[in-house]
Amino acid sequence: MSKVLVSDPIDQAGVDILSQVAQVDQRPGLSPEELVSVIGDYDGLMIRSGTQVTAEVIAAASKLKIIGRAGVGVDNVDVPAATQRGVLVVNSPEGNTIAAAEHALAMMLSLSRHVPQAHAGMRVGKWDRKKYVGNELYKKTLGVVGLGKIGSHVARVARAMGMEVIAYDPFIAADRAQQMQVRLTELDELFRTADYVTLHIPRTKDTENLVNAELLRTMKPTARIVNCARGGVVDEAAIAEAINGGVIAGAGLDVYASEPLAEDSPLRAVERGLVLTPHLGASTEEAQENVAIDVAEQIRDVLLGLPARSA
Ligand code: NAD
Ligand code: MLT
Repeated sequence: MSKVLVSDPIDQAGVDILSQVAQVDQRPGLSPEELVSVIGDYDGLMIRSGTQVTAEVIAAASKLKIIGRAGVGVDNVDVPAATQRGVLVVNSPEGNTIAAAEHALAMMLSLSRHVPQAHAGMRVGKWDRKKYVGNELYKKTLGVVGLGKIGSHVARVARAMGMEVIAYDPFIAADRAQQMQVRLTELDELFRTADYVTLHIPRTKDTENLVNAELLRTMKPTARIVNCARGGVVDEAAIAEAINGGVIAGAGLDVYASEPLAEDSPLRAVERGLVLTPHLGASTEEAQENVAIDVAEQIRDVLLGLPARSA
């Protein structure tokens, strides 16, 4: 019987599917060394974002046929190394789209109404009504960077809330944007004019530190920025400085250049205008079930000798 290692927590629905065709070992929290020492026993590997599948892991994976990433980003897998060894890498491109989009919208609303800060005040007996006067999203301009699956859903909901939506995405056709009632712009115009900017792009060499001190200085002092995409796309020290210095009004961040976020990160010291969450974009029960089923089915099919789509 085939063997599958599940090295991050995944929804039981995925484990049930894998169990139809394989012995499933759930071992979240393995150290990199432990992973290298056990991976040789397995035909399949199922992960979320916690496991780093390095070239060293792949070199030790003598029986491995498939790596399934229960989520979108395969940036924690050395895909070229896997491909070279003939190991398929599959993901779930759509299973957590709605969850991530709704998290970005939650960030925009919490930021605008200071929900986390007001709640923290209530917990210690305060009743700060004046301190937390907020802003409405209605009639404000939202700039979406990356009008793909998640960016498009955010754009649709924002339109329904009465926002004007502009977007920067060099790979999207103008008529597709037009259908969504979104106007495509250049990046500099988007940052200069938007009241809210939300990022929905992958981390690539072109997007690394895309949002830096220079770009932040072009934003309105009332503007807020949300990153529920990938860490490293924004310069975290520059964001902290921009909020502390009044260059922008605030930011909502879910993802970080290095995760977990360092305890001494300058972001943790910002007192007002910042909402931080620990990479929760895909963390809904619905999304976790979707991605687990999607990826487990692909692993099952490959172990049965059927074709699968690759990431
Ligand atoms: P997608 O591929 O559907 O969309 C990405 C869009 O970015 C595409 O339309 C592409 O044309 C565009 N793009 C690429 N390079 C660009 C650039 N330099 N400038 C502007 N646009 C550019 O992907 P998606 O499913 O919408 O996911 C978006 C991001 O969100 C990914 O990085 C994904 O890993 C991340 N994500 C995070 C969470 C989370 O938990 N926070 C959950 C799901 C997805
Ligand atoms: C993804 O790429 O799917 C998200 O970052 C969510 C996750 O890591 O589970």
